[in-house]
Amino acid sequence: MPLTYASMRSSGGRLLQSAGAAILMLGVAQAHGSAEDISDGATERGVDKSVFGQLPDGRQVDVYRFTNANGIEMRVTNYGGIILSLKTPDIEGKFDDVVLGFDSLEAYLSDEYRQANPYFGALIGRYGNRIAGGEFSLDGETYTLATNNGSNHLHGGEQGFDRVLWQAEPFESEEGAGLVLRYTSEDGEEGYPGKLETEVTYTLTDANEFIVDYQATTDKATPVNLTQHSYFNLAGEGRGSILDHHLTIHADAFTPVDETLIPTGEIRSVEGTPFDFTQATAIGERIEQDNEQLTFGKGYDHNFVLAEQTASSSEPVLAARVWEPESGRLLEITTTEPGIQFYSGNFLAGDLTGKRGQAYEHRSGFALETQHYPDSPNQADFPSTILEPGETYRSRTIYRFSVQETAGS
Ligand code: BGC
Repeated sequence: MPLTYASMRSSGGRLLQSAGAAILMLGVAQAHGSAEDISDGATERGVDKSVFGQLPDGRQVDVYRFTNANGIEMRVTNYGGIILSLKTPDIEGKFDDVVLGFDSLEAYLSDEYRQANPYFGALIGRYGNRIAGGEFSLDGETYTLATNNGSNHLHGGEQGFDRVLWQAEPFESEEGAGLVLRYTSEDGEEGYPGKLETEVTYTLTDANEFIVDYQATTDKATPVNLTQHSYFNLAGEGRGSILDHHLTIHADAFTPVDETLIPTGEIRSVEGTPFDFTQATAIGERIEQDNEQLTFGKGYDHNFVLAEQTASSSEPVLAARVWEPESGRLLEITTTEPGIQFYSGNFLAGDLTGKRGQAYEHRSGFALETQHYPDSPNQADFPSTILEPGETYRSRTIYRFSVQETAGS
């Protein structure tokens, strides 16, 4: 059993109806500690807001800071819904920032960042991961999308949900503190059909969970596959590689890819392969094995088919857990999604410098993106990602933070 923090309590797992909730502490934020600080954490739950910067067109971008009753602190901007920092305690109670990112808006807007394109901490839409050839057909029509990743479409295109300004509404409820983010994607935006009304709720609970609730409606049939693209390093961002982290994924199968990272359509058993994470295994243990799939991904960059999840489930199930031996930090991810993309940070190349002033080197962060399978609009046998008018897209993912002395399973 994971050790828990003093005032942890059950959170109940219900969807938040947050819009009208009281907002405490909303006002001008104090300049808060840099990522270098290892503080004892705040103790007062709340939300505050400050200015993060300005977009080239003059629109103001804000940053919201949430703290829970146990001192976990998270900073989020309404630009791309990006999680800027997330400070959690280690086994000795020392707090550190466990997500990759930057301290300034300029860094996220820079050409250097756009070229490297790691999508640090951002909301991804309309479609998480790749669509082959940037094309799909729906109801007899062919739609053409940007090919922004070689010959394929990736993470929603040139101006995906990671690069738009969301309308933000902070709240505090019995369960925790958070932010409702809303964005209307117009019919035809990035080539997708239908006007998509999107709402994403971030909640930091007093049970040390970060909950992401996604919701969307459309006026024309359209593919939707939203996800969150945080890169974690549970030893602390900028503190080396993630290869010693122990990972468990509750998946008996994965979707193998071609050399452009498009699924071949096969659902392949993980048994006897370096993709078997059904028991906690160090990420680095088999990553250099001679394996065609690892060669294509330059490491792990694959969608895992979650054993206990079905495409239509509305109850989150445990998908993955990651434990870091030095700090004892444990991250558990539960989701309503049928898949999870495990990306071992293979394209990080040391050319971006993070909050602590350290270059983000190869495999210095990992992402676990809950999702429907890549390229589903072109794969009839995969769970459908098509949202019809009159339906509501709903998806929930919970990231739970605790500490533990041993890897567990
Ligand atoms: C993809 C990677 C990509 C990364 C950053 C991941 O979701 O699977 O191939 O490099 O995002 O764009």
